[in-house]
Amino acid sequence: MRTPSAANGFDDRVPRDGQVETMTTHLERRPEQIDEDRWIYVREMDKHFGGDFLVLSNVNLTVRKGEVVCIVGPSGCGKTTLLNIVAGFEEPSGGICEIAGEAIHEPGPERGFVFQRPALFPWMTVLQNVTIGPRVCGVARNDWLKRAEHLLGETGLSQFKDHYPYQISGGMAQRVQLVRVMMNEPSVVLMDEPFGALDYQTRLSMHQLLLSLHAEYRPTILFITHDVDEAVFLADRVAVMKRAPGEIVRELPIELDRPRALRHYATKEFAAYKETILGLLGFH
Ligand SMILES: Nc1ncnc2c1ncn2[C@@H]1O[C@H](COP(=O)(O)OP(=O)(O)O)[C@@H](O)[C@H]1O
Ligand SMILES: [Mg+2]
Repeated sequence: MRTPSAANGFDDRVPRDGQVETMTTHLERRPEQIDEDRWIYVREMDKHFGGDFLVLSNVNLTVRKGEVVCIVGPSGCGKTTLLNIVAGFEEPSGGICEIAGEAIHEPGPERGFVFQRPALFPWMTVLQNVTIGPRVCGVARNDWLKRAEHLLGETGLSQFKDHYPYQISGGMAQRVQLVRVMMNEPSVVLMDEPFGALDYQTRLSMHQLLLSLHAEYRPTILFITHDVDEAVFLADRVAVMKRAPGEIVRELPIELDRPRALRHYATKEFAAYKETILGLLGFH
């Protein structure tokens, strides 16, 4: 089983006597040799539940380091299952699923997961919630405090750092979850309809916030949504899935310039992307 020992998840164990094989394997996987065009690499992946219930069939997806890929598809087509496999919460039944050249078998610190519901600890303040990871890992207080203060400032949460979850709004709670994930400096952020429960205006501000965090920290983002506008606005590429058994039927590069802004919604290109995706989802 993999034992990621560094923050980026790479296995940097030093070989002991008689472990020449391990050394070779380790050297073969030096970070600089990892193909950044295949940061997330899913090939011919299937997933069955309970023996004969085929949820995902022949899923192929390659995501470059730093890319934002949105996945859209009808309810029940297996979007969450796909994300859970990349997260390491579920095992695939067949095929390849890798992050940074390593097969995924379990969750790892290089992958952050943003759930639809923020799942904050109600007995902890905002600051305690966002720093739980580094505090549990024994990171020096000065290091996590500096990073937390910076991220809380960027997300407009500084003045709420001593509030408890019941004292903040749904949008703020989702920002807290995002900060908690970014505290671990993930190379991959996996997001499962994270803004689906928020009102429209809050969702728009979350899009701006996510893209500004992405521009600064450049994580690879795999983002699931049923909202086609959201997918086009955020993504470098949109992957469209079909109904069960789930499969990616088309990938559409989104060539809108960055930084993305409100004006993009009014462009012909935006409308054309939206029409194509809705067509692939069966709307005419
Ligand atoms: N742990 C599980 N055991 C059995 N069936 C499951 C499990 N998780 C999901 N499913 C089924 O797999 C299908 C796809 O689910 P899901 O990945 O949640 O779809 P989506 O996120 O696209 O709505 C659904 O029919 C769901 O009921
Ligand atoms: Mg889902």
